Amino acid sequence: MRKKIFVGNWKMYKSPAQAKELAKALLGLQSRHEVVVCPPYVSLPAVSAVIKKSLIKLGAQNMYFEESGAYTGEISPLMLKEVGVSHILLGHSERRTFFGETNAMINRKMKLALDYHFTPILCIGETAHEKGSHITDKVLERQLREGLKGITKSGILSSVIAYEPIWAISRGDPDHKAATPEDAEAAHRSIRSFISRLYDKEVGQKVRIIYGGSVKPENIDALMAKKDVDGVLPGGASLDAKKFIRIVNYETPA
Ligand code: PGA
Repeated sequence: MRKKIFVGNWKMYKSPAQAKELAKALLGLQSRHEVVVCPPYVSLPAVSAVIKKSLIKLGAQNMYFEESGAYTGEISPLMLKEVGVSHILLGHSERRTFFGETNAMINRKMKLALDYHFTPILCIGETAHEKGSHITDKVLERQLREGLKGITKSGILSSVIAYEPIWAISRGDPDHKAATPEDAEAAHRSIRSFISRLYDKEVGQKVRIIYGGSVKPENIDALMAKKDVDGVLPGGASLDAKKFIRIVNYETPA
């Protein structure tokens, strides 16, 4: 059985004071699943203090691939450890698109994150154009092959793969369309089968694959009903405590 995981990506929202309020509003959350929130860097200590004794874990949205040095503006794994981070989003499409992150850079980050015993969440996904050109599987395979280069079996099993089709990411529009549960399931299945080929069948069965892109209370139950969907990565909806709690407490169809 794969443990379900729910990860809130707060993106560049929530100052330390606002993040503290949002974290407080999540404290009542009860769940047997793994629940993670990823505030902006400067809000990590404030959120860390609030959620310390709760079941909620702390995630970062990025990390640099060196431990320290003259890298103006970057944040190292050591710093994230010290503020209580356990999970790290790596290779989010916004990092790839707006900040020029390549598969090779993301691979270095994956390796260092694993060295420091974080749970890296490797984000992959195709653009609308790539989907239209029917090359989704090819794009995902390349992101996985290059992003996971040199990563051992135990490394991949300590990681999470997030499938986030770029065309489904809301970018602040609450009415944006998510992938259909069927589309998400099909992509998760091909990711699982590619991981099986890259490692072995057992790894393919064990690795957790979560879906991101306009996840909200309205579509969570149908997404979670799919057997290869092991959790979700909501952005916009995770900024609203009520919505995020409803997502974590999804309902299983009777
Ligand atoms: P969204 O963001 O839920 O607002 O679409 C998801 C993400 O980009 O991680």
